[in-house]
Amino acid sequence: MDGSDARPQAASPEGQTDLELEAVHARIRVCTLCGLHASRTQAVPGSGPVPADVMIVGEAPGFNEDVQGLPFVGAAGRLLDTLLEQIGLSRQQVFITNILKCRPPQNRDPMPTEAESCMPYLRHQFRLIRPKAVLVLGRHALERMLPGVGSISRVHGEFFMRGGVAFMPCYHPAAALHNGGLLNDLQRDFDRVRSYLDRLLPAPEPVSAAPAEPIPPGGGPTPAETQAAAADPTEQLTLL
Ligand code: URA
Repeated sequence: MDGSDARPQAASPEGQTDLELEAVHARIRVCTLCGLHASRTQAVPGSGPVPADVMIVGEAPGFNEDVQGLPFVGAAGRLLDTLLEQIGLSRQQVFITNILKCRPPQNRDPMPTEAESCMPYLRHQFRLIRPKAVLVLGRHALERMLPGVGSISRVHGEFFMRGGVAFMPCYHPAAALHNGGLLNDLQRDFDRVRSYLDRLLPAPEPVSAAPAEPIPPGGGPTPAETQAAAADPTEQLTLL
């Protein structure tokens, strides 16, 4: 042995990000910032790779998530998996989390104070995941992440650029389980995310146009628009 084996290895940037995300999740698991810690079985920080092109943000863990410690593992999660598969994505490729990391009793709506306590965790996850697109599922996530843009029924399927990241509100899969009429909308909205990623992921184009916001249905932002949005210091960064 020449002694060099004993030297500490420098962690790769990816490794450091993994460690930082795990540290955030460890803090979430012991969090007592709001009253929900008293009734939870366990916290549900989120799951998926870091970094990830796509981040999905739901409302709060339900019964199954609270038991398993993983997001979207019940009926709504199975529909989410199907929607992802239909656009060529697997759960292993996307980062999934919620506004609230702990289950509200009887799945009641999140209270504003609970969401405020929890938002710093989501912001930290967002900075580490560095998504290109964020799917905002349901009205509670919409109110928190894109306040003031309009109701979910009006703005679902539109892209909102924030700091160069495309945020798309969609109906919550649980809502589509109750009202089958929403399923077509959900599938169309997921298709738009696929088209957006397809245009975004190849080589970036030069900046040529200022972004329009929101983008009307039928045409998501081009890579050039996304770059322009990233460079625009006037954008309101609600989540960041
Ligand atoms: N509904 C959500 O909003 N999140 C989950 O994790 C499960 C169901």
